[in-house]
Amino acid sequence: MGTIHDYDVIVIGSGAAGLDLALGISRGAKVALLSKGALQESSTFYAQGGIAAVLDHKDSMESHIADTMDAGAGLCDPDVVRFVVENAPDAIRGLVELGADFSRREEKGHEDEYHLTREGGHSRRRVVHAADATGQEVESTLADAARSTPNIDIFELHNAIDLIREKRPDKTLGRCIGVYAFDCARERVDLFRARIVVLATGGASKVYLYTSNPDICTGDGIAMAWRAGCRVGNLEFSQFHPTCLYHPRAKSKLITEAVRGEGGSLLLPDGSHFMDRFDERGELAPRDIVARAIDHEMKRLGIDCVYLDISSKPADFVISHFPTIYRKCMEFGFDMTKEPLPVVPAAHYTCGGVCIDTKGRTDVENLYAVGEVAYTGLHGANRMASNSLLECLVFADSAAADILHRLESIPPPPEISSWDESWVIDSDEIVVVSHNWHELRRFMWDYVGIVRTTKRLERAKRRVDLLLTEIAEYYENFRVTSDLLELRNLAVVADLIIRSALSRKESRGLHYTLDHPGRDDVASVGPTILTPEA
Ligand code: FAD
Ligand code: SIN
Repeated sequence: MGTIHDYDVIVIGSGAAGLDLALGISRGAKVALLSKGALQESSTFYAQGGIAAVLDHKDSMESHIADTMDAGAGLCDPDVVRFVVENAPDAIRGLVELGADFSRREEKGHEDEYHLTREGGHSRRRVVHAADATGQEVESTLADAARSTPNIDIFELHNAIDLIREKRPDKTLGRCIGVYAFDCARERVDLFRARIVVLATGGASKVYLYTSNPDICTGDGIAMAWRAGCRVGNLEFSQFHPTCLYHPRAKSKLITEAVRGEGGSLLLPDGSHFMDRFDERGELAPRDIVARAIDHEMKRLGIDCVYLDISSKPADFVISHFPTIYRKCMEFGFDMTKEPLPVVPAAHYTCGGVCIDTKGRTDVENLYAVGEVAYTGLHGANRMASNSLLECLVFADSAAADILHRLESIPPPPEISSWDESWVIDSDEIVVVSHNWHELRRFMWDYVGIVRTTKRLERAKRRVDLLLTEIAEYYENFRVTSDLLELRNLAVVADLIIRSALSRKESRGLHYTLDHPGRDDVASVGPTILTPEA
């Protein structure tokens, strides 16, 4: 039997969003911080390019806002964009106060200023970074602070299964009061009770066969929130990063967009440039345009990859700006100071998610969501580079303030029954889980990828319906494992992505369908919001 834990607040997820929020509330709340893997294993840890913020006097808030809205292809919420952009400098200052060390300019007399790099969609240099390992710097800084904060108890290897809502006398469901979590080491299910629960579980790009994301990105928070009754928004907008290293053993290793920001070119196998044919901004067009252009050229020419070339820059410039990528590429036999790197697009970021307001509140009372798990309205139909870590920090801070303000007025949760698995048995056919994992990710890649059609989406829908039934049966009858829990969530998220994509009868930002190739501005199309059945 699992353990029962009581806290003021449970934060599920220990990336930038979860850690920053936990630290923000720790002066007034006893916090349980749950992490599915090791504390630092998160997308945050692998972030490369940096964090966007207006820190240069030649830059302006209006310019950051305009670039974000332009990348978002008409679907950003202008108030949310302004809210995030205006809070960006404070978010960076908060990290620096905790000890984060970002790259500085090398020019004489400017050594105190941050080196700002440039990425797709940004009309100016405005990306703060720690060489090409920004995420590691951010994650380690926040994780070290959390480890030394007495009010935060860390539960690694605890995989949240489902949120718990209070049953009202009329049998309807009320506020969120806790979560069941699988203790992966002890193989038992613990009960966590709290007055407030926060989802900071990251994105869902593992739903695709090829992804830049770590294995933890299985959309658990989106699926849990959906099952608990929350609306989700804009899930058709799956972002594909244009440049991941193409190598059988590289597992979609990201090559940061900052390589193009610092002068890198995209080339076809014959050495010719092609991006200018697709957008006047060339290599620095927003990500949806670059990924689609690469996909188009790969299909047109029947090639396995295109090439990213920064070898015209001095070797010491390349190595000092991109030390981590340089080392990694050398391990795979590519010297980026001398030769072009083979690259392909891969699933990278979930622009949609659980609907929240600017305080991080979801539709369910006392349930919050922050970070990539959430749909805030910032990214619209396509996220601009380096706006994600920023969104994590700004929303974590605003949610923390709201939680501290409300906590005292929320009564403790009532008695909750422990996890009951008296009727389940150990699975005798684990192959079902591994088979379904692969099948799901394969058809999502083939039918719900960079270029879609209604026929492909309908094909995917039929398959996901079958998987949902099969997985539900399996889940009812067999003892839970981490793989089963993740598969169950991936199937829910895949279904939501397909349904959202089928409902958008136009092409916009990251959603491109051959059946409706143009953008429909006449119908004044808004975000795609799905509501769970009561
Ligand atoms: P994550 O950092 O992904 O953390 C999620 C946490 O939730 C993890 O601790 C995980 O263990 C936990 N979790 C998940 N499910 C469960 C569960 N069921 N139970 C318990 N815990 C759970 N963005 C930028 O702005 N700039 C960049 O330069 C940049 N580079 C990137 C490079 C790469 C390779 C990748 C993959 C992404 C990059 N992004 C970048 C995107 C950005 O890193 C992410 O969007 C952001 O880090 C998400 O942070 P998060 O805290 O929401 O989630
Ligand atoms: C990158 O460094 O190219 C990734 C940046 C991002 O996803 O914002």
